[in-house]
Amino acid sequence: MSASSAAAPLELLAFPDSLALASKVAGLLGVAALPIEVHAFPDGESLVRAVRRAQGEAARVLVFRSLDDPNQKLLEVLFAADALRRQGARSVGLVAPYLGYMRQDRVFREGEPISQRVVAGLLDTGFDEVLTVEAHLHRIEHLGQIFRARARSVSAAEPIADWLRSGSRADLLVGPDAESLPWIRDIARRANRTWCLGSKTRHSDREVRIDLPELPAGVRSAWIIDDIASSGGTLEAIVRILKQRGVGRIGAIVVHPLLAPGTAARLARAGLDELVSADGIEHETNAIGLAPLLARSILEHEEQGADT
Ligand code: R5P
Repeated sequence: MSASSAAAPLELLAFPDSLALASKVAGLLGVAALPIEVHAFPDGESLVRAVRRAQGEAARVLVFRSLDDPNQKLLEVLFAADALRRQGARSVGLVAPYLGYMRQDRVFREGEPISQRVVAGLLDTGFDEVLTVEAHLHRIEHLGQIFRARARSVSAAEPIADWLRSGSRADLLVGPDAESLPWIRDIARRANRTWCLGSKTRHSDREVRIDLPELPAGVRSAWIIDDIASSGGTLEAIVRILKQRGVGRIGAIVVHPLLAPGTAARLARAGLDELVSADGIEHETNAIGLAPLLARSILEHEEQGADT
């Protein structure tokens, strides 16, 4: 796989927190990932320095950074986009394996914003394209509905299924709620596993109630699969039910491990035997590599454009 010669020359720059994955992606694309420097001033402001390899030459330049813990990172990626345009980049894109703020996609209580749209609008001011993985989209179907930039969210079903097939045994895949249906079904089909779905009621940031249907007879082991683990409340609620129903070995796979410190240990105490994640956000649970998916999607994204 390499960047097509007909396409604009590709340059990839990454913030330190995403440099490891960016370097793998760059390696697959036959380019180098250049580091972006961030200086923190004593007053909390950031100064970003993003130096292009070939000053002035027209190119498709991609900034690589996951937007977990997003408030400061959002500003910093926009500063990087500005710096790159000032050096003559033909187009500037953002590769954010995790794209924060997608969950606040409606006014849940009077007086709230639709943060999802605000963040899309902000990123539109700096970027011509946005690529992410498993954006948390419930009330919209694709990112083209909120971005002016060419924006695309790609599914992590293939790398997860590949990982499951590569040796990890479990009788059953469990999705937390109806919203995960198409995704769980796709992973189960690719990995040749049975699956079931729960239904979820969220009472607060950390309190979640899950109801699970009757499990198929003889289930001894299960993988819970979710796009995000944040407070860990969703996984914990499912683990407790599976334990009550006599499932002996329980694992969880999440794409985006936004896990607060201590969450993995709490889940282990609840009875979770193994927690693995994709490597879009660096975390000790990373086991599923997103680099091939991202490299392929970067090439396709230029050829095909945004989600429609
Ligand atoms: C929600 O709809 C998502 O798919 C995840 O289930 C949720 O974000 C997990 O959050 P937490 O770990 O705080 O329960």
